[in-house]
Amino acid sequence: MEQRFLGPLAVSPIGMGCMGLSHGYGEIPDRAYAVAAIRKAYDFGCTFFDTAEAYGPRLLPEFRGHNERILGEAVAPFRDAVVLATKLHLHDDEVGLPLYPTIRAHLDASLRRLGTDRADLYYLHRVNHRIPLEDVAEAMGRLIREGLIRGWGLSQVSAEQIRAAHAVTPLAAVQSIYSMVERGVEAEVIPCCLENGIGFVPFSPIASGLLSGKVGEGADFSHADDVRKYVPQLRPENLGANRPVVELLAGLAARKGATPAQIALAWMLRKWPNVVPIPGSKRQERILENLGAWDVAFDDAEFAALERALDAIPIHGHRGFGGAGKRRDAPPPRNKKAPDARGVRGLFRPRPHSVSASPS
Ligand SMILES: NC(=O)c1ccc[n+]([C@@H]2O[C@H](COP(=O)([O-])OP(=O)(O)OC[C@H]3O[C@@H](n4cnc5c(N)ncnc54)[C@H](OP(=O)(O)O)[C@@H]3O)[C@@H](O)[C@H]2O)c1
Repeated sequence: MEQRFLGPLAVSPIGMGCMGLSHGYGEIPDRAYAVAAIRKAYDFGCTFFDTAEAYGPRLLPEFRGHNERILGEAVAPFRDAVVLATKLHLHDDEVGLPLYPTIRAHLDASLRRLGTDRADLYYLHRVNHRIPLEDVAEAMGRLIREGLIRGWGLSQVSAEQIRAAHAVTPLAAVQSIYSMVERGVEAEVIPCCLENGIGFVPFSPIASGLLSGKVGEGADFSHADDVRKYVPQLRPENLGANRPVVELLAGLAARKGATPAQIALAWMLRKWPNVVPIPGSKRQERILENLGAWDVAFDDAEFAALERALDAIPIHGHRGFGGAGKRRDAPPPRNKKAPDARGVRGLFRPRPHSVSASPS
């Protein structure tokens, strides 16, 4: 299986988003099942796992770190063979505090919960506009020099913010929402990452389940901790209006002996060499199904036809986040024409990595 690079970090082409095991998609599975799910993903070949300090039931402070603890327990037998990514939030009540010790305290707590001595990838979960990004980049550079993190990243940022931060301490990865129905980052953000040797990690790559074709119009998202009730793309009227994209995927999946979710993931792998999606599922069999997308390939004609078909389908509603750098309530990005990735592909030069993701 090919490896992809997030800056210096070598990872499987698809990672596992662990959030749903603690937060965001209704009732959570029991801990033993969640631990087994992560271990099965590793056995299948996944070497990249995504969590955050915030991921716990309803994001309540008392449950902070719930997901990191599960991930830490799961990977303990093979810790050195995987790349662990976690994220911190700098809250308003931390504005004005000395920055390095503040970030260090977040990191130390995450490392304790993960049961490890370093985070391979440490993201700022959201930019706090009252804390200069360059100062955060400086502090992250110090953590890298101290061996406490191997690379750092940003989430939901603009190309301008990426360039400013990268100039201070080179970024390993940028994580933002990206799927066939949420393509705002194709215009500037992903090309900017490509040009600068930065990996791009799409979250919600199956559009919170929409692209799997398995979200029915009567779906019940009433659980207190279910983000899908706030996702406009999943409102009953939009589920109906978005049938064309679901049907496009179902048709192609049937022809290729794949599933619609696999087509949605394989499409972005084919499109960008620096992209490593992190689909999330609470079900062990779906986690493996999603990882299996790394074996689904398109020839040039198939890919071009898929791109044309996607460009022609209007998307109704958005996922619930504004596009990178845009207002949260910004209108959904249209399926804007992206620059041809082949034009910039040659510019993506993974930086040599000093630490291997393998146990050796
Ligand atoms: N940086 C950020 O701000 C941010 C924000 C959100 C998420 N994330 C990260 O990104 C990861 C992925 O995001 P996400 O969970 O929103 O994305 P997603 O994979 O697009 O959506 C997950 C939803 O899709 C369903 N699903 C997944 N695979 C499926 C399949 N093969 N067939 C049918 N349904 C399927 C899941 O249902 P089941 O569980 O029932 O299978 C779940 O409801 C998270 O785990 C988290 O680590 C980061």
